[in-house]
Amino acid sequence: MTKTRNLYIETFGCQMNERDSEIMAQLMSQAAYLETASPEEADCIVVNTCSIRGKAAQKAYSLLGGYRRLKKRRPDLVIAVAGCVAQQDGESLLKKMPHLDLVIGPQNIYRLPELVEAARWQASRTTATELTKDFVIPPFLPKMDGSGAPHKRFVTIMQGCNNFCTYCVVPHTRGREVSRKPEDIINEVRHLAEHGVREVTLLGQNVNSYGQDRNPATLAENGGGDDFPSLLRAVAAVDGIRRVRFTTSHPKDLSARLISCFAELEKLCPHFHLPVQSGSDRILARMNRKYTRADYLAKVSELRRVRPDIAITTDLIIGFPGEGEDDFADTMELVNFVRYDSAFSFKYSDRPNAAATAFTDKVSEEIKSRRLTLLQQRQDEISGEISQAMVGHTVEVMVEGKSKNAGEQWSGRTPTNRIVNFSSQQPLSPGQFIDIYLEEACRHSLRGRIV
Ligand code: 5AD
Ligand code: SF4
Repeated sequence: MTKTRNLYIETFGCQMNERDSEIMAQLMSQAAYLETASPEEADCIVVNTCSIRGKAAQKAYSLLGGYRRLKKRRPDLVIAVAGCVAQQDGESLLKKMPHLDLVIGPQNIYRLPELVEAARWQASRTTATELTKDFVIPPFLPKMDGSGAPHKRFVTIMQGCNNFCTYCVVPHTRGREVSRKPEDIINEVRHLAEHGVREVTLLGQNVNSYGQDRNPATLAENGGGDDFPSLLRAVAAVDGIRRVRFTTSHPKDLSARLISCFAELEKLCPHFHLPVQSGSDRILARMNRKYTRADYLAKVSELRRVRPDIAITTDLIIGFPGEGEDDFADTMELVNFVRYDSAFSFKYSDRPNAAATAFTDKVSEEIKSRRLTLLQQRQDEISGEISQAMVGHTVEVMVEGKSKNAGEQWSGRTPTNRIVNFSSQQPLSPGQFIDIYLEEACRHSLRGRIV
């Protein structure tokens, strides 16, 4: 029998990273590495890093720094850095931190077991950060062995980004857009559904341009071909799948064909994460977002026309270089006008290789903090008002599991992805659907009772 070893994975950042970590865990399990919850017990540690904002990257660095102690105690421990910090800093990570063995970029995760073995037996320290536009995401069926959620999964449909928003590091760390073959995606979704998964979230940096890199000619000729709306239709047609979600979308690529999916596909959840970043045209232009506030609002209003119950969420950057009081007021006004279900908002931070890093008119930390607080307070009020308006309605909830405060308390998610807590004397299982009458709006969730 092969001797098993312990693998510890720490994941930062987006859902793409979460999915990549699952893939790495599965690949390593084929090489007899089993996941452990403790880095102290690990024979191999993988830190899957995020570089989207300065803070995320710092967190990864300080965690990695702390592992020096473990390596001293156990020289045969293999430490690998994956994700966007790995891609961005490459070789220099190995120079800065002599206790690291491997640096693996997002396109190289499939080589992890081989590289870990080489590090273990040949003590080789490797940087695998090649990034090519010819990269093919291998077909890869998730193992459904009881690890991971039984009822909902992420499915990566593309990697990379072609947009070069001036604040963003992603095009530099994840390279150009590479879409997976539609048949590989559908096979994966079918496989998930056959194993009891009821909800899939399709993942990409900019899912709206899915397929553009694969076959632009057919896309144009047959009014869609393998584009994102066609993919959505095919995914929604898979037996057993009850809910389909996707993230993330660039507003400039949100097409009429995609909007009409919200009218036609019942399984497509009424939730759209549509990052606006700023409400000021001047700042949007400097961000290289390629849409105006009016373009954005027209798309929001069209989405709401075809699907009145749709929840719109967003990302906002506060204090982008050159953002004046007027620009910030435009953002506040947009937030008041759209009334987002929820919003992620961040203080602008300089990122390596991103164009805005060289802009000279930076906004002070103090102003950024003040504006961020104002914005978040207002958004909290709006989110609270929207929750309050849901009280008295019955919604179909997908059961997630027992809630943290145990007992007979359960939690589930609405089609708009809000958390609902309720009690049930009957045992329930994740992925079950149940109607809940909403009785109370709490700070970050709703409470209700089974109808
Ligand atoms: N500074 C602050 N926020 C950023 N984001 C991306 N880059 C930066 C940056 N340099 C935010 C954007 C994006 C989200 C994932 O992170 O709002 O949509
Ligand atoms: Fe970054 Fe813009 Fe690409 Fe999103 S669309 S990953 S914000 S460059």
